[in-house]
Amino acid sequence: MKPLFIVLEGPDASGKSTQLKLLSERFTALGIPHITTREPGGTQIGQDLRRILLDPRRSMRPLTELFLMVADRHEHVETVIRPALREGKWVISSRYTLSTLAYQGYGRGMDLKLLRELNELATSGLDPDYVFLLDLPPQVAYERTRGRDRFEGEGLAFFTQVRAAYLSLIRSVPRGYVIDATKTPEEVCREILAHLPLPG
Ligand code: TMP
Repeated sequence: MKPLFIVLEGPDASGKSTQLKLLSERFTALGIPHITTREPGGTQIGQDLRRILLDPRRSMRPLTELFLMVADRHEHVETVIRPALREGKWVISSRYTLSTLAYQGYGRGMDLKLLRELNELATSGLDPDYVFLLDLPPQVAYERTRGRDRFEGEGLAFFTQVRAAYLSLIRSVPRGYVIDATKTPEEVCREILAHLPLPG
């Protein structure tokens, strides 16, 4: 079976890291070779970029932020995601191209066409096989994350915008699913697994 590239999207505190862990445990039990990874920060360079990007004491021009996200993605795709898929490993990533459209596009008001072109350039057109949007009401996301990093410092209006963006964007993603992230982690994991073609 061709290895699958699976992406989890959603605001901070929607449980993406918890799901990475639960899915990984499940895949191990099923004997599926896989890696879990994230953006920004899935490579060594990415870890440095992530520190710069999320530092709440740092302010940054929107275009600078965009270039750093795209640089992180390019490095991630070429040195982590593609090699893993080539070796037959499934890849589960917390965040990918949809994050840029939601945060830089709808959140920061940058041109979606430009963002899609940069995503295409950074990934050479590598699209995920499945995208799961862990959806939370903005108020819940905001309360759970207040002050955690530079993005969470943006306030409730920003969360509201990003949520609406995600819900609209996911509709045009092939095999893109909205998952209610207010449910327990186990329920969320079960729902995700139910969409996947698992061996056995
Ligand atoms: P997280 O990895 O803890 O979810 O945080 C990463 C932050 O970076 C999150 O607030 C969303 C933001 N982000 C963007 O703005 N654009 C992107 O393309 C990506 C990958 C993340």
